[in-house]
Amino acid sequence: MPTIKINDVELSVTPGTLVLDACRTVGIDIPHYCYHPALTPVATCRMCLVEIKGQPKLATSCTTTVPPAPKDNPEAVVMEVFTNTPAVADARAGVMEFLLINHPLDCPICDQAGECKLQDYSYHYGSGDSRMAEVKRRYRYEDLGAKIVIDKNRCIHCTRCVRFTREISGGGELTVASRGSHLEVTTFTGKSLDQNPFAGNVVDLCPVGALTSRDFRFKKRVWYLKSVPSISRHSALGNPIWIDHEGNQIHRFRPRPLEGKETTHFISDEERYAYAQYNRTGAAPLPMLKGVAASGEAIREALQAAGPVAVIGQGTFGCDAAQRLGELAASADLRYGSGDKTISVVLPKYQTSADGILNRRGFTERGFRFGALEELLGKVRGGEVKAVVLLHDAAFTSIKESELLGQILKSAAFSLVLEAEASALGRSATAWLPITNLAEESDFIVNHDGELRRYQKALQAPKGVRTVPAWVKELTAVPAAV
Ligand code: SF4
Ligand code: FES
Repeated sequence: MPTIKINDVELSVTPGTLVLDACRTVGIDIPHYCYHPALTPVATCRMCLVEIKGQPKLATSCTTTVPPAPKDNPEAVVMEVFTNTPAVADARAGVMEFLLINHPLDCPICDQAGECKLQDYSYHYGSGDSRMAEVKRRYRYEDLGAKIVIDKNRCIHCTRCVRFTREISGGGELTVASRGSHLEVTTFTGKSLDQNPFAGNVVDLCPVGALTSRDFRFKKRVWYLKSVPSISRHSALGNPIWIDHEGNQIHRFRPRPLEGKETTHFISDEERYAYAQYNRTGAAPLPMLKGVAASGEAIREALQAAGPVAVIGQGTFGCDAAQRLGELAASADLRYGSGDKTISVVLPKYQTSADGILNRRGFTERGFRFGALEELLGKVRGGEVKAVVLLHDAAFTSIKESELLGQILKSAAFSLVLEAEASALGRSATAWLPITNLAEESDFIVNHDGELRRYQKALQAPKGVRTVPAWVKELTAVPAAV
């Protein structure tokens, strides 16, 4: 591997590595706007300029690559890069001045304030004052459909959003029109972003506050939000996301890109806007037995008295939950898997599976058998199984599977459903227990690609709502001797 020097620090990198990425590996963060690891580099913003020994002009580190080592001297230093010279500092300050010529000073009302690259870089690399005496260019904000709003006054023309719709989502809804100071990002006539199932990503990609989400706009200042690493339950691979929350309410989901994993850069709008499902409203749900509120102890006694137990675990829950649930089964072959949601694949590169049961593998590894619910129905009807415990979320089960589950529960002498929100199926069971949702617990899954993905608790569950392992502990407790 060729050796390069960055500010006199030597390192070996693969030939073809971008200088910007090489700098990052030694802890030097090069300021940039137009560069994005998942998009074609275009070197339009000029913010990432660095000095390279032997080159007459500064170079854009987002498009300059490390050359291979000469064959006769593999140890030779092939490139010397400087990121902290007066020439580089001058260039950055100059670029910032140009970018701010037309940018309004509306940080106090801008949603991006607090996570804005223009703010951050202006503070670190800008000059601190403005020589701009002329009137700034003005546009009214525009809706790009129901989900996205554009404020062109703030746009710095990095074209990340345009490249996203062309290279990633493919609809090409956005384009750059006009030239010079009239340059503007707009949609082709008659097109909006409403038909784009990945449109929300343009908001994350925009390094300034030009593209904002109608759903989040003006709702929360970002510095009040706490970010907790989690996963999306609404993707086949359990895409990594940030849960941004405050006051025990989730305000948004954002992608949480993993280093070197290109499929984790973007999430679909279905995943993004699913956050609302995890905010509880109304009174805390109570354990129920035969239609009336009951204690966990009463449900335990009823379950323990019922006879041989079979469990059905929906493969959208975590592996800890699966492990503990499995312990309730009277024998290892009485663990059944459920869940049959499919995901419509529109970007095969990012959605590598259509199976919406994201932890099917984790459940299978813990002895749960999928596609065998008919067999269980036979065993229940034949009297071999007397009680059934179902771990369930109605959003991931088709009407057909729901009907089959309903027959199983109805045929059992005793049925218990564990759910975060009571469904029709849950209400039809003999007993029901309230469990934490994804945002209220920590656990992990093993996705369809065999990757282990963890998620952490972000919200406090209401009193009386417990995790599956906590309920199983209660249900298997040995009654105190009298
Ligand atoms: S709207 Fe945002 S992402 Fe699009 S070109 Fe302008 S600054 Fe870049
Ligand atoms: S990030 Fe290199 S020119 Fe924009």
